[in-house]
Amino acid sequence: MISTVENSEIVVGLDIGTTKVSAVVGEVDEDGITILGVGNVPCRGLRKGVVSNVDWTTRSIAEAIEAAQTMAGVEIRTVYAGVCGSHIRCQPSDGVAAIGGGEVTPTDVDRVLEGARAIPIDADRQILHVLPHEFIVDNQDGIRDPVGMSGVRLGVHVNLITAASSPVQNVIRCAERCGLTVADVVLEPLASADSVLSEDEKEIGVAVIDIGGGTTDVLLYADGGIGHVSVIPVGGNNVTADIAAGLRTPMGEAERLKRKVGCALGRMVDDAEEIEVPGVGGHLSRTAPRRLLSDIIEPRVEEIFAVIRNRVEDTGLYDQLSAGAVLTGGGVLIEGMIEFAEEILGMPVRLGTPIGVRGITQLVDAPQYATGVGLVQYGASALADARGRDLGSSYHEDTLESPVSEERIARSGSRFLSWLRAAF
Ligand SMILES: Nc1ncnc2c1ncn2[C@@H]1O[C@H](COP(=O)(O)OP(=O)(O)OP(=O)(O)O)[C@@H](O)[C@H]1O
Ligand SMILES: [Mg+2]
Repeated sequence: MISTVENSEIVVGLDIGTTKVSAVVGEVDEDGITILGVGNVPCRGLRKGVVSNVDWTTRSIAEAIEAAQTMAGVEIRTVYAGVCGSHIRCQPSDGVAAIGGGEVTPTDVDRVLEGARAIPIDADRQILHVLPHEFIVDNQDGIRDPVGMSGVRLGVHVNLITAASSPVQNVIRCAERCGLTVADVVLEPLASADSVLSEDEKEIGVAVIDIGGGTTDVLLYADGGIGHVSVIPVGGNNVTADIAAGLRTPMGEAERLKRKVGCALGRMVDDAEEIEVPGVGGHLSRTAPRRLLSDIIEPRVEEIFAVIRNRVEDTGLYDQLSAGAVLTGGGVLIEGMIEFAEEILGMPVRLGTPIGVRGITQLVDAPQYATGVGLVQYGASALADARGRDLGSSYHEDTLESPVSEERIARSGSRFLSWLRAAF
């Protein structure tokens, strides 16, 4: 979102994941988003979705941005950055406001959302998003967009997404150390969901499950809105570590075996198949049944899906997920994952890759890019919202050039509303 081409703007999503940093560059115009370039660099600076080494993370961000700039041919100064980790919480809240002029205006919506976020939270936490679930005008409930409706009293039910402040600030600090301005911090599963879901799925209820390297994120759409978000601190890296320990092979070889010949469901593997397992610490390679590898992978994957199913059931929304589940994130690429998920979750499951963008889409046509592309989509909605509210150049100056502030994070609630509006 730095260089402005005529009638279009550049928006950059920065996905700082446990295994990699992805910078996705999109050009936004009235026809939508065109992917111009991607920078994807391995990163070892995070543990379970949270920055644990600022130097390593900063270095990976700088390399990813450099690669994305070169490919896209634009200079990147501002990004929409993802945040995640098991410190994320989702809690319901309500707001009520009087409708000023007898008809609901965007200002009334802002005021009622402001009321919904006015609840006590711990001093070391901050509100990331205010996700409206439904509005109520006088006694009429179930309203998705109340603007223009007549009434005297506007109410709202929201889900507040809160995060521990220091992991959020560390993401911002790492980006700033690369000379970048963070326009907004966005919850990663929210971004992933928007890039992989169809409108139909959101409408009838769906679970989005993003299995990354260090975390598994669960986000539920029910009743046309986001009903639940949670982050489980387990992911594909745990599968790799199990393989390394179980087959006594180096981590790098375990990762290679998982990707090339791993299978999440033992019964899909022929008993006669054999694989080559490199030894560790000078031991020679040996052959082993491929079934042995899947016998290591299967229980870990089973555990992950069982935890997800319990989470979903605990929310009481299980029966409302008519579209089933969409699996995304690099961790779902192990053979047999979709079949296994259907079995344990007891619902139809599909693989989710980014949709709704144009341009060099083959660059982002994989589940690992769901978050990066979703961050661009979020940024594009924020821009459209700013224009819709006619904030003009002063908004842009603020958004583009000044560091992310509490106030800006607060505004992301109403931004999210317009994002939802655009989606439905
Ligand atoms: N072809 C593949 N087959 C199996 N697993 C794969 C494949 N490609 C990537 N993975 C796994 O996907 C995981 C990384 O996924 P992703 O890039 O979505 O995670 P991340 O965003 O870095 O991490 P997180 O979201 O947890 O912070 C790793 O565990 C990796 O082993
Ligand atoms: Mg991720």
